Amino acid sequence: MDFNVKSGDSDKLRSGCVVVGASAPRRLSAAAERLDKAGRGQLVALLKSGDIDTDCGKTTLIYSPDGRIQAKRILVVGCGKDKQLSAKSFIKIVSAAAAALQRSGATDAVSYLAELDVVDRDLSWKAAQIVTASRDAVYRFDELKTDAKAPKRPLRRLAVAVSSRDHLDAVKSGVANGIAIANGIELARTLGNRPGNLCTPRDLAAQARRLKKIHSALKVEVLDEKAMKKLGMGALLSVARGSRQPPRLIVMQYDGADKKTKPVILVGKGVTFDSGGISIKPGAAMDEMKFDMCGAASVFGTVSVVAELGLPINLVGIIPSTENLPDGDASKPGDIVTSMSGQTIEVLNTDAEGRLILCDAMTYADKFKPDVVIDIATLTGACIVALGHHTTGLLSNDQELADALLSAGQTAFDRAWQLPLWDEYDEQLVSNFADMANIGGRGAGTITAASFLGRFTKDYRWAHLDIAGVAWKSGKQKGATGRPVPLLMQFLMDRC
Ligand code: BES
Ligand code: MN
Ligand code: ZN
Repeated sequence: MDFNVKSGDSDKLRSGCVVVGASAPRRLSAAAERLDKAGRGQLVALLKSGDIDTDCGKTTLIYSPDGRIQAKRILVVGCGKDKQLSAKSFIKIVSAAAAALQRSGATDAVSYLAELDVVDRDLSWKAAQIVTASRDAVYRFDELKTDAKAPKRPLRRLAVAVSSRDHLDAVKSGVANGIAIANGIELARTLGNRPGNLCTPRDLAAQARRLKKIHSALKVEVLDEKAMKKLGMGALLSVARGSRQPPRLIVMQYDGADKKTKPVILVGKGVTFDSGGISIKPGAAMDEMKFDMCGAASVFGTVSVVAELGLPINLVGIIPSTENLPDGDASKPGDIVTSMSGQTIEVLNTDAEGRLILCDAMTYADKFKPDVVIDIATLTGACIVALGHHTTGLLSNDQELADALLSAGQTAFDRAWQLPLWDEYDEQLVSNFADMANIGGRGAGTITAASFLGRFTKDYRWAHLDIAGVAWKSGKQKGATGRPVPLLMQFLMDRC
């Protein structure tokens, strides 16, 4: 879908559909009011007769509107009764508009929704949200369907419009950011949605090389088993033992700032299928463990957006990638492995594999002399128990970094919630036989997983994002969400 930016009066711009807002009980937005005037009071009449629903996120499509209006249709989106919209309501409104536009039959449209008043959000933000919501509405994963049916009359072009020319620049930059972020979300979703047999560690490595072809500013390095052995990555390698697919450690480096600037490092869990290994998982919904590389997918998405926008930062993406499968040669409960850091780990449960591959990647990260390291992982089912599917779990050894991520999540409306990382939890990782166990017993599974990682991140500022609850949806809408690409992008843009 193409996006552009326009200025002018809502009644005068030619299009297949013009999109405006209306609030309860009968309040028209400025753009809607112009349409009403040009249309001899049609909108007010429809409001009065109750034919326009002003509940937040409800849409009403009007064909061949009355009077002198240059658009073939009007889409009125309900904005609820609040004078100023919350970010959440605004996103609901633009998402509903995007879905309704897809069904409207219009192939091009002009949206004035960026002119709605939203608490603490500027025009660029609103324009970006219109773009990402629209791209979300048209996203489909059909590369593996043999008779993928394209929609009959898809929306091809959307203009984000404002009445005054003075606002064009802000809208332009918002639209450009929105397009780049939507590209990143889409990449993360598509990688996540691919099945385990077509998205192996080697496939992810190939994906990194593909990104490098598109963005010349990227450097890519892929470590194979031999290189990992040499570095002593015994924890990562122990997870890969049960798989016929060789593991990979993928490194993508983007230099957008001068050499002296320390990089941000993103480490993404890339378990391309997690059966649990010898501590095998129950069968129900096990297919969803193909999504266990969504942390990696979000790193791919974010690195590619940063390169596309050419942000003035240094960024390194590190992806430890493997399958976790049972086999005669697989790791067994009780096995003790030596991590790259030299610390030994007793593997009490082979299903707690994410932390085993991340810990070696985190030790490896040290060689880049990072400013901060953020790992992103579908790490614990316990995170879903604690926080459900609404928010990412956040744990950090640095409160300033945690606050920056929390705030980025609020701004992007891709929210995170912090959990404590106290010593008491770390004590749960005791082992009678090694430096630590890879599980921490019954309580606080998300925190003990982070505590485990914390033992490998002492030399830098670090934050951990547990995305087990937000990375994909189950049920009828099963599929990867692309989260937390919006949060990560906001965090990185805030630093610029
Ligand atoms: N990938 C899973 C976590 C997960 C489970 C994410 C379900 C989303 C939905 C992870 O590797 C895992 O299996 N964790 C175990 C840890 C336990 C053995 C301490 C878990 O959460 O059960
Ligand atoms: Mn597991
Ligand atoms: Zn896992």
